[in-house]
Amino acid sequence: MEDEERLVTSTCAETETEIENVLRPKSMDGYVGQEKVKDNVAISIAAAKKRDDALDHVLLYGPAGLGKTTLAHIIANEMGTQLKVTSGPAIERAGDLAAILTNLNEKDVLFIDEIHRLNHNVEEILYPAMEDFTLDFILGKGPSAKNVQLPLPRFTLIGATTRAGMLSSPLRDRFGLICRLETYNENELTEIVTRAADMLKTAIEPLAAREIAKRSRGTPRIANRLLKRVRDYSVVKNHDAIELSDAKNALKMMEIDELGLDSTDIRLLRSMAEKFGGGPCGLDTVAATVNEDAGTIEDVYEPYLLQLGFIARTPRGRVLLKKGYDHIGLKQPAGRAEQLSFYETENENE
Ligand SMILES: Nc1ncnc2c1ncn2[C@@H]1O[C@H](COP(=O)(O)OP(=O)(O)O)[C@@H](O)[C@H]1O
Ligand SMILES: [Mg+2]
Repeated sequence: MEDEERLVTSTCAETETEIENVLRPKSMDGYVGQEKVKDNVAISIAAAKKRDDALDHVLLYGPAGLGKTTLAHIIANEMGTQLKVTSGPAIERAGDLAAILTNLNEKDVLFIDEIHRLNHNVEEILYPAMEDFTLDFILGKGPSAKNVQLPLPRFTLIGATTRAGMLSSPLRDRFGLICRLETYNENELTEIVTRAADMLKTAIEPLAAREIAKRSRGTPRIANRLLKRVRDYSVVKNHDAIELSDAKNALKMMEIDELGLDSTDIRLLRSMAEKFGGGPCGLDTVAATVNEDAGTIEDVYEPYLLQLGFIARTPRGRVLLKKGYDHIGLKQPAGRAEQLSFYETENENE
């Protein structure tokens, strides 16, 4: 299945960017949850304003769809400065980054999405820029080459990444504030859905909002996407407000179950149970049985299944745990539970 077709993927389809921008809260007040992160950011912003200086560099990390881009916009808003948006893969050469940096104004925010995908030459330009606000480069070649340093405006870099582990340590060390975004609980997602419905000028019953929240895998982007589909359903049914039955029926049509699992997730669990006796089985093998590539399984499907404690990653491959068996209505073979008990507890600590 393509990402664009899959409703419960946390990555953003290109056709969605417009509606995402509409639904993005513009201020801290509208940004639901993430209290620890918001507190830390608020203190840094207040301190920067008091010093009359640029905000410290901020690294935001966590799974897709949890609000990294949204928070970067809000931070620039609260600082009252311009936001320049780019991404790791978009900056191909060191010169591209140098051009962006020299065009910034004092206190501006440069947002680099997917910062773990910056290439090495570009990253080297970033170190002195972040640390000393200078652009270091070598002019010319051979014996006549000269080291040149240009001053840059005092700016703020906000980096976002889904994979903090892939960041080099010299880069990570240059961020003053490192924030990890967490998945959202049901109450927070209910509030997000309710606010989003409001922005879409659609009335929604509280129980309908909660139903969507429950099936959103802890992820605002998925919640907003499901809301749009449920709204379409409710409009076709000529309802004035989105009702609980609209949410239930629409989600059933989309084949999204009570936990937010879709048909691919279920096929994956079933194939682990029925073809591999619960594993351990290799990632590539599992991926092949559900017609997906291994990378997609690992990045898109597995994180939520791991979080639910349905599967575990072991040194010998993936295993299906008791909760996973229960969910698809199958019985875990006798003796398996004891063999796997180590992984069950390990999973809970994740
Ligand atoms: N804390 C939040 N409160 C309300 N809505 C949110 C929040 N975080 C994310 N969203 C919504 O989810 C969508 C995806 O968020 P985004 O910032 O693009 O995620 P990321 O950059 O981490 O992939 C946004 O359009 C926004 O409407
Ligand atoms: Mg983003």
